[in-house]
Amino acid sequence: MTIAVTAVSGLLGGEIVRKLIAMPESEAVVGLARTPANAQDLGIEVRLGDYGQPEQLRASLTDVDTLLLVSGMDAPEARIQQHRNVIEAAKSAGVQKIVYTSIQGVEEGTAFSPVVQSNRQTEADVRASGLDFAIGRNGIYIEPDVDYIDSYKAKGEIANSAGDGKCGYTTRSELAHAYARLLTSNDSNGRTVNLYGTPITQIQLAGYLNSAFKTTLSYREMTSDEFIADRTSELGAFIGPIIGGIYEGIRLGIYNKPSNFEAVVGRPHQSWEAYFRSISV
Ligand SMILES: NC(=O)c1ccc[n+]([C@@H]2O[C@H](COP(=O)([O-])OP(=O)(O)OC[C@H]3O[C@@H](n4cnc5c(N)ncnc54)[C@H](OP(=O)(O)O)[C@@H]3O)[C@@H](O)[C@H]2O)c1
Repeated sequence: MTIAVTAVSGLLGGEIVRKLIAMPESEAVVGLARTPANAQDLGIEVRLGDYGQPEQLRASLTDVDTLLLVSGMDAPEARIQQHRNVIEAAKSAGVQKIVYTSIQGVEEGTAFSPVVQSNRQTEADVRASGLDFAIGRNGIYIEPDVDYIDSYKAKGEIANSAGDGKCGYTTRSELAHAYARLLTSNDSNGRTVNLYGTPITQIQLAGYLNSAFKTTLSYREMTSDEFIADRTSELGAFIGPIIGGIYEGIRLGIYNKPSNFEAVVGRPHQSWEAYFRSISV
């Protein structure tokens, strides 16, 4: 069986490839990338895979049995067609199964909802493709909070609009374990699964960061409007509301739902104690 993974020049796609290769009975793995030069260190064949290039996608998916489609990064309305290009190319190239990396969230009511809507549309397109499929709804990556530690340190606090809402975070490494299973086993075919660890509050997150980085961060709640304005001034008019909308969702309890991670992987998600111990300085 040949498995193809898209966006292998990115952090998630690259990590999924590494997990697939490391499996005891590893299958043949090829990568697709819009920018293959950014994926040279993976040690696998990397083919062209720009979501905006249907013919290129079809040529690159020849001889592929199972495909992992990593959600794109474009504006929501552009993503839907880009993902359709990948699904259509897979169908016409004879791919048997698609696994799609979707996202947690609600389709209405937060500034992140347009992104969620676009992912739900791709979920529907995958289900309607006629191919075998499995869909993962990813939790929120915890790594950006770790990468942000110097900014948190400079301010002495984590400030956002999550309040005391709990968030089911995950790591790209844990997601990659789950996707390697969804790709190589048919147990979850036809299912849509939630993939994240134990939901935690921002106060708990501050505590874990404090233990890992020997800091004394506190947590301060902002209103949603304040936080969206804050993120928009730092990150711009596209990403700012997306980030603000995710925290609005955390406050509303949208990311505090049961996870299917253990059922998919066969073991619990890495605990936050273990994760923060593994990165502590
Ligand atoms: N769960 C979360 O908290 C969270 C947070 C952020 C994003 N996401 C989603 O998760 C996905 C994967 O995350 P990541 O950490 O791997 O992101 P990343 O490291 O930024 O990588 C994004 C990847 O998407 C590729 N890409 C973007 N547009 C493309 C296109 N039109 N055609 C083909 N490839 C394209 C990029 O290719 P190039 O190398 O050519 O740029 C890159 O490989 C993201 O794309 C996004 O949809 C989830």
